[in-house]
Amino acid sequence: MEILNRSIIKDLLKSAKKEDLDHIVNVKGWVRTKRGNKNVAFIALNDGSIIHSIQIVVDLANFDEEVMKLITTGSCISVNGKLVESMGQGQHVEIQATEIHVYGTADAESYPLQKKGHSLEFLREIAHLRPRTNTFGAVLRVRHAMAYGIHKYYNDNGFFYIHTPIITGSDAEGAGAMFRVTTMDAKNPPLTEDGKVNYAEDFFGKETNLTVSGQLEAELAAMSLTKVYTFGPTFRAENSNTPRHLAEFWMNEPEVAFNEIKENMDLAEDFIKYLIKYALENCMDDLQFLNDMYDKELLERLNFVVNNDFMRLAYTEAIDILMKSGQSFEFPVSWGVDLQSEHERYLVEKHFQKPVILTDYPKDIKAFYMKQNDDGKTVRAMDVLFPKIGEIIGGSQREENYDKLLNRIHEMGIPEKDVWWYLDTRRFGTAPHSGFGLGFERLILFVTGMANIRDVIPFPRTPMNAEF
Ligand code: 4AD
Ligand code: MG
Repeated sequence: MEILNRSIIKDLLKSAKKEDLDHIVNVKGWVRTKRGNKNVAFIALNDGSIIHSIQIVVDLANFDEEVMKLITTGSCISVNGKLVESMGQGQHVEIQATEIHVYGTADAESYPLQKKGHSLEFLREIAHLRPRTNTFGAVLRVRHAMAYGIHKYYNDNGFFYIHTPIITGSDAEGAGAMFRVTTMDAKNPPLTEDGKVNYAEDFFGKETNLTVSGQLEAELAAMSLTKVYTFGPTFRAENSNTPRHLAEFWMNEPEVAFNEIKENMDLAEDFIKYLIKYALENCMDDLQFLNDMYDKELLERLNFVVNNDFMRLAYTEAIDILMKSGQSFEFPVSWGVDLQSEHERYLVEKHFQKPVILTDYPKDIKAFYMKQNDDGKTVRAMDVLFPKIGEIIGGSQREENYDKLLNRIHEMGIPEKDVWWYLDTRRFGTAPHSGFGLGFERLILFVTGMANIRDVIPFPRTPMNAEF
């Protein structure tokens, strides 16, 4: 077979010009379908660069019948052929094959994606193969674009990317749902004299866990670089089997010195609108596919969010609205309760019909680091609530006053020895500052219109599931 430079299928489909026609090109990819008759075969070939496949037209008179039999759905081939204008609908170029090499066959009997239209539940069981479907190709390209968009937004706005640790000795959110990191023998751990597990003998000489958030370390960097962000995997061992929770998920957390809660809200709104706009401008083929296949209102919803102001109100006002709503919620509402997804979605989808930013939550349902309001009851928390998702961002202004922070740490029973370094920022050159965490997979859920968080991360980790 003649060796040619490989063309990317996206480039051929999107940017082929008149003068490119009638040249011999090479494409490599995976066969999505093969159909035809005894004279001609039409192969839809996809290399993942774009949702669309390129059509390969094979004049069977010129090809070995035995080789053609190897070309089935899922097989991987390399094709040389003439790029020509397509007479078929939906594409403007196709390839008339002159040479074909089969890299890898996919036995039609055993290849699980032989047929189209598998359920998303079934595809979760073959997470190692599902990137080969149109749906997961689309989701993974959008996910990439959103990760890139995040870095681009911050870079263009003067933020610095801080790599915060994954193994930590502190519990940022105080929720206690952490995965322990240890090299101790689980059956026979070293014990102290009074029979407790002796972490002093563990790898780090203390108890360590996988991080639930990079915030505390990001705050340290913001006290020097002013505008910073982290973006990495975070881990929560809570046993929540819901369509919106993962045990391992990615979180993006900006932290800005001198920002108060108002600027924090402005940043969150500007940032998330930027990302959705970025998706609309750069991922339209994939979004159109997802819109048509899964969620007919997806594009409308994305445009709506970009073009409308978010509603901003205090938790106390939201509780008022919920209590007067006449709705019968599964979890009853009263001042002081943590809002459930059903409450958040009522506010967003029914009452305001737009994204909502709630602030000033009761201090008892929020983390120790949030700035305390003068009322002694609430803290300067900020959650951004989205249609179909509920909470997509959680954040706050931080308590910058040393004494107030220390008090709260004592009140909540957090060992001071675990956070002495965090307290130091309030001892040396403290400053007002704010930040938030965007749940990356929740963003991808919103942007793709997918309904289950397990379908927007390549290899989901949930209770009882870490197969791949
Ligand atoms: O509200 P959370 O717990 O906030 C923090 O961790 C803060 N330290 C962030 C900060 O201020 N820098 O989590 C932030 C976001 C949530 O709004 C949600 O979108 C997402 O992370 N999230 C999850 N996503 C998937 N699975 C889970 N188990 C999640 N828990 C939180
Ligand atoms: Mg939260």
